Amino acid sequence: MITDILAEKVSAAFSEAGYDITAAVTLSDRPDLCQFQCNSCFAASKQYRKAPFMIADEVAAVLAKDDVFLKAEGVKPGFINMTLSDAYISQLTADLAADEDMGIPQYTGEKIVIDYGGPNVAKPLHVGHLRSAIIGQSLKLIARKCGCEAVGDTHLGDWGLQIGLVIAELCDRHPEWAVFSPDYKDGDGVPELSAEMLTEVYPAASARSKVDDDFREKAHTATFDLQNRRAGYIALWKEIMRVSGADLKSNYDKLNVDFEYWYGESDADAYIPELMDILDKQGLSYESDGALVVDVAEETDKAPVPPVIVRKSDGSSIYATTDLATIIQRQRDFAPTKIWYVVDNRQEMHLTQVFRCARKAHLVPDEVGLEFLGFGTMNGRDGKPYKTREGGIMRLSDMIGTVTEAALARIEEQGNVPADSREEYARRIGVAAIKFGDLVNQRSKDYIFDMDKFLSAEGKTGVYILYTVSRINSILRKAAAQGLDIPDSGYAVSADCERDLMLSLITSGMSWRLAFAERAPSYLCEDVYQICVLFSRFYHDVRILDEADEAVRRSRLALCALVKKMIVSHLDALGIETVEMM
Ligand code: ARG
Repeated sequence: MITDILAEKVSAAFSEAGYDITAAVTLSDRPDLCQFQCNSCFAASKQYRKAPFMIADEVAAVLAKDDVFLKAEGVKPGFINMTLSDAYISQLTADLAADEDMGIPQYTGEKIVIDYGGPNVAKPLHVGHLRSAIIGQSLKLIARKCGCEAVGDTHLGDWGLQIGLVIAELCDRHPEWAVFSPDYKDGDGVPELSAEMLTEVYPAASARSKVDDDFREKAHTATFDLQNRRAGYIALWKEIMRVSGADLKSNYDKLNVDFEYWYGESDADAYIPELMDILDKQGLSYESDGALVVDVAEETDKAPVPPVIVRKSDGSSIYATTDLATIIQRQRDFAPTKIWYVVDNRQEMHLTQVFRCARKAHLVPDEVGLEFLGFGTMNGRDGKPYKTREGGIMRLSDMIGTVTEAALARIEEQGNVPADSREEYARRIGVAAIKFGDLVNQRSKDYIFDMDKFLSAEGKTGVYILYTVSRINSILRKAAAQGLDIPDSGYAVSADCERDLMLSLITSGMSWRLAFAERAPSYLCEDVYQICVLFSRFYHDVRILDEADEAVRRSRLALCALVKKMIVSHLDALGIETVEMM
């Protein structure tokens, strides 16, 4: 990475000037004055009891001899400002173009299980699940681009009360179904359900359980019986899983979100006896009000962290139980170096309890990272959680549909896209708008979903990024039509906007480093946006196809192709596909 190369050069210069200092170099805070800066003279000043600017002058004098710098100078009170020579910038651009990893730092040896998506079977996917899917998918792709092994696991909510509610409701409506007979045997037949039916049944059952005590009791009993593998319920549950799973998958497909594993809470069930045994043998679990709990409070806690309940008084296992058992499962199946949980901020306490219990019980080796990667709420323009116009919970499929339709209308109005590509392009543009609009925000913050803004071709939007790519495509198409060759080397700076654009490509690795270190796709969104802005300036300021000087034209065409490659590489990691034209 360029800042690492420069830090090495500056450290060597410190040493040559007689100071033993490991220097750090960052992008300049004052791009109008220089490209990079080093603030290490302040630390050197303490160590060597000498004014920082004097040290800066000495070190800069050494650096100035190196022809990678156009300028290296000490400035008061003690900064070293550096500007690279155009020849070196061109060289770095060529190095980048030749680099298989496109300047992305590589962290090998990591094996990461990413828990994201987290949909609940039988309940429709709503926008609340959108962020986990979008952010989790992107973090998985970022980790992979950074050289890690990463797998996604949905952790389906398929074993809880919501299934009990659906079973109880269906039993009430269709008591004649064989699956409800206590002595149901395999082969006695399973009714065929549909996604539409489940969409209606779950909310009805949920509403009823709030007002009807008997019904609620039935739902709890059904949950308990299911967990104890009552044959008819298991058969019905499998049918619910089939229908719900297909529906979920089709929604995730539309969003380009995928999972290597579709394990659910039910798959953790097999590990619960072992979990209970471990907690018991290590003397961690004890009875409290009939429930089995584990203390997880720590002395340094500022707010109370209650004990985690691992078994309810009625003997059933709950959310924390399955999460703990899943840790055993993941350790056994993958032996990961890290498990990332991409989950709503509101579940932070739950996962804090789970992680602490897992640590106490040594469910994973101490060096395995259990990380809660929380995210904020997606709000509507009124600042409240996003709802339908009628005030109901917005279904994810409806939201994707609305955005895609708006994108299609735009495409039709402009009429540039061939008719047979319109639907697919509209889907891609819609997904880009939704995903970029989400990922550009700091992960842990709430944000406002504003469709008009997200679909705008101006500003920090996915549409603007795709628009930039389609503009580059058009240049490359025209070049090909004119029989021009598009080189992948021979970059040379011949204009300010060109230099800035190349610099943005060269320094892009720093955004990857931050995105990976902070598990934060927003750094890549910012970076790709900056590249696009600088490209737009370049596009407006200089001639490309009709540039008379052949060497300059070749360099500019090469740069166009490289910029596109860079943007696409960023978009790949955000889970966004491009379109040929808009
Ligand atoms: N199904 C849960 C929900 O809808 C999210 C699951 C999050 N992951 C986890 N390991 N607890 O709230």
